[in-house]
Amino acid sequence: MNTSSQKKWNERYQKGAYGTRTHPSALLTEWLPKLQNHTRQLRAVDIASGTGRNSIYLAQHGWQVDAFDISEVALELLEKKSNSKKLPITCFHQDCGDTQNQGDYLIDDEYNLAIMIRYTNLSLIRNLYRALKVGGHLIVEEHLVTNKEVIGPKNPKFRIPPQSLYDAAKELKVLSYNEGLIKDPDGRTAALAQLVAKKS
Ligand SMILES: C[S@@+](CC[C@H](N)C(=O)[O-])C[C@H]1O[C@@H](n2cnc3c(N)ncnc32)[C@H](O)[C@@H]1O
Repeated sequence: MNTSSQKKWNERYQKGAYGTRTHPSALLTEWLPKLQNHTRQLRAVDIASGTGRNSIYLAQHGWQVDAFDISEVALELLEKKSNSKKLPITCFHQDCGDTQNQGDYLIDDEYNLAIMIRYTNLSLIRNLYRALKVGGHLIVEEHLVTNKEVIGPKNPKFRIPPQSLYDAAKELKVLSYNEGLIKDPDGRTAALAQLVAKKS
């Protein structure tokens, strides 16, 4: 476990980080209705779920969700919300950035949907691909390197260069790829790379 990252994120969540950001990712809300038509058994994994805005949205739309995050503080908040709403979300305290066991905690061919929203770890995409069932979908959204005034990490280490998300997903059938300045549902602007792909 990367304890400095764990500590950093725990402290952020203890101070109420993202407390008001309860809206799910707009990319997820746009694509979910299109994916559900093709799937009967709805199992999803949410990598770096945080307090679960996207896990909760999925569970409210009939999905059984496995949520992974390095911050046990975030997961406790997610568990509290999901228990009170009786939602089928299982939380896993996991360092998803550990290169020694990159993706080992994921079971092959398990999920119909894998999401990784605003957590920078392109090397995990290959493992997420393996964890998908054939016909399953992957939705990834990452902060892009930019010189514009946008929300998200100030440290460029946590932003990705243009085209790199697309390149990381080339084994998959890419259904949609987009890069640019995007307005979040709360009106704030983010520089994002967004990918929707399918395991064929
Ligand atoms: C910007 S937040 C995004 C949270 C959520 N995906 C969302 O869209 O609201 C980034 C999340 O990544 C988690 N995280 C950072 N490093 C991680 C790691 N190595 N393994 C698992 N989660 C990690 C943090 O705890 C935090 O919840």
